Amino acid sequence: MLLDSALPMGDLSLSHRMVLAPLTRMRANHDTLAHDDASLAATYYAQRATPGGLLISEATLVSSEGLLDHNVPGIWSPEQTRCWTQVVDAVHAKGALFSCQLWHTGRNAHATFAAHPAMQAGRVPTVSASDVRTPGQTRSTYTGDKLDTSVPRPLRADEMGRVAEDYRLAAVNAKAAGFDAVEVHGAHGYLLDQFLNNGVNRRTDAYGGSVENRMRLLLEVLAAVATVYPNSRIGVRISPHHEGSMKYYGTEDSDPDALYAAVIKRLDKLDLAYLLLTEPRWFGGAFDKDHATDPGFKMALVNPAKFRKLYRGCIIGAGGFTPASAEQALKDGDYDAIAFGRWFISNPDLPDRIRNGQPLTPYVRKLFYAHTAEGYTDYPVFDAVADKSALVPQTSIGQSLSAPAKL
Ligand code: PHB
Repeated sequence: MLLDSALPMGDLSLSHRMVLAPLTRMRANHDTLAHDDASLAATYYAQRATPGGLLISEATLVSSEGLLDHNVPGIWSPEQTRCWTQVVDAVHAKGALFSCQLWHTGRNAHATFAAHPAMQAGRVPTVSASDVRTPGQTRSTYTGDKLDTSVPRPLRADEMGRVAEDYRLAAVNAKAAGFDAVEVHGAHGYLLDQFLNNGVNRRTDAYGGSVENRMRLLLEVLAAVATVYPNSRIGVRISPHHEGSMKYYGTEDSDPDALYAAVIKRLDKLDLAYLLLTEPRWFGGAFDKDHATDPGFKMALVNPAKFRKLYRGCIIGAGGFTPASAEQALKDGDYDAIAFGRWFISNPDLPDRIRNGQPLTPYVRKLFYAHTAEGYTDYPVFDAVADKSALVPQTSIGQSLSAPAKL
């Protein structure tokens, strides 16, 4: 099975290709945004760790400027770093590799989070490329109400160095915590993606206009992070979308295929550890089912045909993979490794279950973002499943729906 074969990735060596996808789980401390209940987050990640396997952390804020919710962790403070160290140690004790996903949410952070106790001096949400707010959505706010999204303050050109410096400091902390690699989150309509897409980036300075200008901040951030980790230990996530598919938080571009092709060609020159690409079928909303019949699992891949030939290094695919479609994607040469999210949440021993063809424990979506151990650390490994009749055969995932949903 190709999923179970070794993969050199930058200067990391993976023993198999079943990666834990970065997943928001909202279990960090409400006020400090640190994983201060170390036994909880450490247990969660360690349960999913396998010798030579790659785990990618949940999206982790590089500064409080992008704070968009309680309970998402950061990695700017000594306390956050100390807590991450305990989590990384638990993962390393199981022999796995751990990449820290570095995140700035840009316009998706609500302005009311300015009042959060973890807000750093000189950092205030909400910022973006331009004053274009996330359309048609409400956001959770500091007080817990759902309000319209905030109109972001466009970052000034003379602030970009400080933004890159925030990423650099976060990388310094990630290194101190022991992370093997870092991943710069350039996807899903968050800050760096807001700069890439001309529906959001309306700037006329060196950070807007041409595709080259719109990718400038991403490249400056990567250069800053590369002073801490070598490129061979840096990953980047991007989420190419296309006309007719869902846009990530309303992030649009007039020519997304050309945009992402240019970005991927540019990233190819950096010899990064990996490129993580989201398949557009990923985005929750329309496929928000609580069970294995989610139609997203049957939708065809769209990225490889457009982008695979533009990139020589390792590409990890993510979004709506079943074990069978993941194996097929490796066979077809579409991806080098596959990141699993939902099924890895409910199957801490997912690599073993895939190897052994064992049926899977269904996930409980309403517990994805709950704040306790329930739905987090209490999913059993196969041998400990009391009622095996409740398990889903791997081959039936997505199969009971007659027609896949249209993009
Ligand atoms: C989320 O918390 O919903 C989230 C975070 C990071 C992503 C996507 C979604 O890349």
